[in-house]
This record gives sequence, structure tokens and C-alpha cells, in this order.
Amino acid sequence: MNLLDECFDANRRWAAEQVDRDPTYFKRLENLQSPDMLWIGCSDSRLPPNELLARPPGDIFVHRNVANVVEHTDVNCLSVLQYAVDVLKVRHVIVCGHYGCGGVRAAMATQPLGLIDNWLRHIRDVHLWNRAELNAIADLGKRTDRLAELNVEAQVANVCHTSIVQDAWRRGHPLTVHGWIYSISDGLIRDLGINVESAEQIPPEYRLY
Ligand code: CO
Repeated sequence: MNLLDECFDANRRWAAEQVDRDPTYFKRLENLQSPDMLWIGCSDSRLPPNELLARPPGDIFVHRNVANVVEHTDVNCLSVLQYAVDVLKVRHVIVCGHYGCGGVRAAMATQPLGLIDNWLRHIRDVHLWNRAELNAIADLGKRTDRLAELNVEAQVANVCHTSIVQDAWRRGHPLTVHGWIYSISDGLIRDLGINVESAEQIPPEYRLY
């Protein structure tokens, strides 16, 4: 059997198993889109957010791209954010990076990969802004992991600087933006201690109100 036939086969088995266990499973799912959380993570194939957090379907609204970048003219990411905040009324936005991120590693290398190099430019910016700290880390793996953390921090700031988040705060919508990172080697998420919940926490240069 080829890979795609296997996928359809597995899907049919899975759907039947859910109905065996709970005949109302899919009926309930139809009315279950009420997540409390928007997850902005990396496209990495290994650990999807519902698995990492052991959350059932319906709990997490998800946007993923290479190296969890939030770019202020990316209409895809901004649309997900706007829908999550304004329509689904999530109260938490999590930007979650991961150690050993291939995107971050590529952004530190001098080897062209194609179009993706333009996307990873955002991470090269973060590298440049933190050049002194990063250059002081001799071990390349540790330096890459630190850049992955700094990238989360930068992308949390980018979320907070959007008109979407600032409008929500102005309306009094309780919304906190968090920075997390997980490790593929142990599956554990670390809270980077970045929690932004009001416009007072962002630099005045970015404030819209
Ligand atoms: Co990654």
C-alpha cells in the first residue's frame, strides 16, 4: 500500500474508532469551536500543540509557520490572530518556539536555501539585535537555542504591537500574550516568563493609543 492510501485507511479506522467509543463524538465536535488559547508555533513535524498540552480537540486555535515568526504585514498570521481575538475571544496567545529549531539554525548559517531565506531574515534581525550576547556563547547548539528563545521574545513583542491586540486591550478584553519554548529531547515546555497583558508593557513608540 502506498503512503497516501495508508493515510486514508488510517483515517477511516480512526473515525470509526471515535464513533465506537462515543457515537456522538463528531456531532459534539461540530459545536465545539470555543478555544481559550491561540497557539503560534513552528511548523516542525514532531510535536503538535494538542499533543504537547494533552488538550482535546476544540481547545486550541493554531497558527504555525517556519520558526514561529509573527510579521506585521503577514496577512495570514494577522488574520488568524484577529479571528482568534475578535471572534473566538481567546484570552491567551502563546508564542511557542522550540530548541533544536531547523529554521533558527538555518538563520545562523551561511548557506542559501531558497525563498525561505527571506522569511528567516526576521530571525537574522533578532540575531543582529542580540549579537553581543549570542557571540559570547561558544557552543553553537547553545547559541542556537538562545536565539530560539530570543526569537520567541521578539515574536511576542510583534504580537503585542499589532493593532489587533492593542484594540482588544483598549476594549477591556482580557488578553495575555505569553512566550514559551519546548524541547524535543524531553517534550517539556519552559515558560520564558514573558507575559504581556497591557499596553503599558510595550514601548511608547509602538503604542497606538
Ligand atoms: Co522549528
